[in-house]
Amino acid sequence: MPFAQRHLLGLEGMSRDDLTFLLDQATEFKEISEREIKKVPTLRGKTVVSFFYEASTRTRASFEIAAKRMSADFISLSGGASSVTKGETLLDTARNLAAMRPDAIILRHAASGAAHFLAARVDCPIINAGDGAHEHPTQGLLDTLTIRERKGSIEGLTVAIVGDILHSRVARSNIFALRTLGAKIRLVGPPTFLPPEMAAWGEVTSNLHEGVADADVIMMLRLQLERQGKHFFPTIDEYSRYFCLNRDAVRKAKPDVIILHPGPINRGVEIASDVADGEYSMIMDQVTNGIAVRMAILYLLINRPRVEETVPGEEAERVEDAAAAMEKPAGRLRRRVG
Ligand code: CP
Repeated sequence: MPFAQRHLLGLEGMSRDDLTFLLDQATEFKEISEREIKKVPTLRGKTVVSFFYEASTRTRASFEIAAKRMSADFISLSGGASSVTKGETLLDTARNLAAMRPDAIILRHAASGAAHFLAARVDCPIINAGDGAHEHPTQGLLDTLTIRERKGSIEGLTVAIVGDILHSRVARSNIFALRTLGAKIRLVGPPTFLPPEMAAWGEVTSNLHEGVADADVIMMLRLQLERQGKHFFPTIDEYSRYFCLNRDAVRKAKPDVIILHPGPINRGVEIASDVADGEYSMIMDQVTNGIAVRMAILYLLINRPRVEETVPGEEAERVEDAAAAMEKPAGRLRRRVG
């Protein structure tokens, strides 16, 4: 059975069959959001808890809309409005939430490995809504779905990913999914965002025009200033002079190029306004597809029979590192992750 997982923690190592199955499922769910009455009883009687330790507009809202379109009860908590502010650890918070018997917990957290940490300790499906600079799997899926819809297939496409790749969980999830599905990846950004080991993922360049030349897809990334502990480039103005996607740069790509950005966008920093709002932009399609992808994930994790999943061996080290951080109160954790 494809995608017989208990949790959605990341796209690294996910098989081509599983990825294709998830995209197919999401495609089937799209139709529900086109109806006049956008509600089905699929998850009636189920409870979904979302816990966001970091800010979010799209991910948080679309998980809630996805759950409610399937008639689940949805409880939304944020770090600032919870007992985290009184010193409660992530583990204690999650154990208390799990004791209320939810059917799934959605977690966004600043520490890489946070979702893996919970998955190993809480008896309920965990969905990673972004963990530090590690992964953002539902974003990777919705981006891949958006590309597949427009291009028909991922196989053989050239995808240029531009910007702060070093700190981007969006880039990592996309790279894992798109490579598995047969895309050729180009990584474009200042050298400080492109450590040598990234060459294993694709071609690497610090020249924007060279990076987007003949690309089928350009995926722009936001500068993750909140994750940058030191200066990776002199000034924002200088960054945008070299890496802001404007019409001149777009003309280097294929005539039917599509442009993606996960949001939030910083107009004039990584993408020019007329490009973000222009004819090649798929940014709003990405947001629309986020609902369908999250409906599919909630449905599959909550409603389907599954085999027990162990934390993969390659993740064990990350989980151990995260474990030390998670058992500290949140204030200390925040200082640790910077
Ligand atoms: N793309 C994305 O994760 O956006 P939010 O931070 O608004 O959820």
